[in-house]
Amino acid sequence: MSDNALYTDLSGYYDLMCADINYHAQSNNAHRLHQIFGNGGRRHLDLACGTGPHIYYLSQENYQCSGLDINQPMLDIAKQRCPQAQFELGNMCEFDVAIPYDFITCFLYSIHYSGDIGRLTDCIESVHKALNAGGVFCFNAVDKDQINNAISAKHSVVEGDSQFSFVSSWHYRGEGETQTLKLSIEKTNAEAKQVWADEHPMVALNFNQLQELLTPYFDVHVFEHEHDKIIAWNKQSGNAIFLCVKK
Ligand SMILES: C[S@@+](CC[C@H](N)C(=O)[O-])C[C@H]1O[C@@H](n2cnc3c(N)ncnc32)[C@H](O)[C@@H]1O
Repeated sequence: MSDNALYTDLSGYYDLMCADINYHAQSNNAHRLHQIFGNGGRRHLDLACGTGPHIYYLSQENYQCSGLDINQPMLDIAKQRCPQAQFELGNMCEFDVAIPYDFITCFLYSIHYSGDIGRLTDCIESVHKALNAGGVFCFNAVDKDQINNAISAKHSVVEGDSQFSFVSSWHYRGEGETQTLKLSIEKTNAEAKQVWADEHPMVALNFNQLQELLTPYFDVHVFEHEHDKIIAWNKQSGNAIFLCVKK
């Protein structure tokens, strides 16, 4: 299944699936990191922006926000949520911009959608090219060597007359540069139970490899995956926030 097909199917359920993510805190944290490390500019681009939750909150911090995503139905929802922002259909591994940005973000581990290390390198190069001097790239990532295949995130939401249950997990088979994101949705109401499931291949690498890919282009700072405080990465956690300042 292509990236496009996955999120075309998912777009109508996406915000319900992410209802337990604190996008406000995540966006505030990115804004604080940009205030500390950035160049003071306000031009912001969110890569793989989905339905635009980070753009919604960063617009409130006076950024001029744009979003890029490979899936038009996700962008249609983003445009409804953030009518003041610009949105473009495109691939984060091969994008060009007319006017460079000061701040580029990519959240919910979406950088892993680049698929393999060659495409991830293309993405990093595209981001570097798209930034102004001293511009900042901020994203979160997962270390393949820390993935526990037995752990999954689950939550349920009632919407209208239906109950939705969402389960997501990472799976890494212990070798190679591919890990799998497993998603499943169950929708139950008085008439029927529908089940929807997908397994999606994503690029797998550890944080040492990721830092090696980034350092030719950026000064790299790694932080614990916390949204209400800024703490240097303890070199063990498998989730982290990467803050990269253009060299
Ligand atoms: C897990 S969602 C994250 C959306 C949003 N960043 C968030 O935090 O809610 C992943 C998004 O990545 C997009 N995507 C996948 N591959 C992409 C690519 N190569 N270029 C741009 N967007 C991509 C999907 O269409 C989807 O909207």
